[in-house]
Amino acid sequence: MPAVVIVGAQWGDEGKGKVVDIFARHADIVVRYQGGNNAGHTLVVDGQKTVLHLVPSGVLHGAKVCVIGNGVVVDPAVLIAEIDQLRQRGFLLQDDLLKISDRANLIMPYHRAIDLARERVRGEGRIGTTGRGIGPTYEDKMARIGIRFADFCDEATFTEVLQRILKEKNSYLRAILKEKALDFDAIQAEYRGYRERLAPYVTDTGVYLHGALRQSRRVLLEGAQGTMLDVDHGTYPFVTSSNTVAGGACSGSGIAPHDISAVIGIVKAYTTRVGSGPFPTELLDDLGKKLRQDGDEFGATTGRPRRCGWFDAVVVRTAVRLNGMSGLALTKLDVLTGFETIRICTAYEYAGQRLEDFPASAAVLHGLKPVYEELPGWQEPLHGARSLRDLPANARAYVRRLEEVTATPMIMVSVGAGRDQTILLRNPFE
Ligand code: IMP
Repeated sequence: MPAVVIVGAQWGDEGKGKVVDIFARHADIVVRYQGGNNAGHTLVVDGQKTVLHLVPSGVLHGAKVCVIGNGVVVDPAVLIAEIDQLRQRGFLLQDDLLKISDRANLIMPYHRAIDLARERVRGEGRIGTTGRGIGPTYEDKMARIGIRFADFCDEATFTEVLQRILKEKNSYLRAILKEKALDFDAIQAEYRGYRERLAPYVTDTGVYLHGALRQSRRVLLEGAQGTMLDVDHGTYPFVTSSNTVAGGACSGSGIAPHDISAVIGIVKAYTTRVGSGPFPTELLDDLGKKLRQDGDEFGATTGRPRRCGWFDAVVVRTAVRLNGMSGLALTKLDVLTGFETIRICTAYEYAGQRLEDFPASAAVLHGLKPVYEELPGWQEPLHGARSLRDLPANARAYVRRLEEVTATPMIMVSVGAGRDQTILLRNPFE
C-alpha cells in the first residue's frame, strides 16, 4: 500500500506539476494536501500548456482520482473555473474522479480582502503574498473560526456561522485596515451557487484514502510551494501559512505516517523565489537575468518575475533532512546551457564562521555570504537527451556533483517542459 510524497526542496516553483504528471502514470490517486490557489502547477502535454491551481496535477491522465485533502484551503470560484476548463477538454467528466475533503476550509471574500489590505499597509515590509487570501484562511482555521466544506454544505449552519464571523471581519476591515465592509447577502447568494456545484464532490477523503491504501491502490501526494516556504521551517515570516514539508502530507490528507513509503524532492538546477525574503544565492546581475529569461521564470499564479540564483546545497540538504527525501527529481537542467561556469553554494560564512545548516535568525540570514564551488558549463542544448549518457560530460558532472553535495540520488532529470523531455532513472513506487 504505497503512498509517495512529492515535495519542493527550495522556495516553490521547482516544477512539481511536470514531475507529478510523470509519476502519476504509476499512481491510482493523486492528492493535494496543503496550500491553495497560491500554487500554480504548469504542465505541458502534447504541446498544450495547462496551469493548475487546485486540482492535483494527475488530472491529465484521465482515469486518476484527484483528491483535495483536508489541509488545503479552497477558493470555490477558482476550483469551479478549473473544473469547467478541464471538463471542456475532456477531463473530470465523471464526478467520482474528484473528491473534496469535508474538512477542508473555504477561502471567503474577507480572507482575500484582508490579505490584500494587509500587504498594502505593510508597504516596504510586505511579504509579497499571492493575494489569494491564503494566510487569513489558515489563521481562521487555527483560531477555530474557519468554514469547512461539511458546514458549508449545510445552508443553515453556513448562514449562522457566516453571520457571526462577518460582523467581526467587517469591523476589522473597516476600523483597522480602512477597507469597505462586505455585504452578507451578496456572499450568501454567491456561495449558494458554489454549494450547488461543489457539494457532489464533498466527502470524507481520509476514510476514502484509508480504504484505497488497504486495497493496495497507489497514492501520490502532491506538495505545493516548497520546503523553504514552510511556516515552521522556512524563512519566517517570508513563508506561506501551511506546513509544506512531508510531515504535512499526513495531517493534510488524513493518511497515517506508516503508510508513506517514500518522499521524493523536486529541485530546480538553480534556485528561484517569488516574493520577499532572504535568498542567499540570489544573482542581481546579468547572470540572474539570463536565468530568468532562459528559464521563463515568471510566476504561474501572479505573473511576477521570479528572483533567480545559483543552486544552494545548504537549502536542499535542509530539505532532504526535514522531509526524509530518498531521491531527487532535477528540473530545468536545460536552462543552464550557455553558461561558461556554473556555481554551487556548499555552505555559508557568517562572522568568520562556516555554517552548514540553514539559520533561523533574520539578522544572520541578511549577513551571510555563500561559499561557492565552480564547475565548467556546457554549450549544447539538452532538450533531446533521454538518458544520462546523452548529456554533455560537463552537464553529467554537474548532476553527479549535485548528488554528492546533497547526499541524495537523482531519480529523474528534466530537460524541457514536455512530458517526453525527461530522463527517468527510477519509478518512485518501486
Ligand atoms: P501566500 O502563500 O500567498 O500567503 O504567499 C506567501 C509567500 O509564499 C510569498 O512569498 C509567495 O510568493 C510565496 N508563494 C506562495 N505560493 C507559492 C508557490 O506556489 N510558488 C512559489 N512561491 C509561492
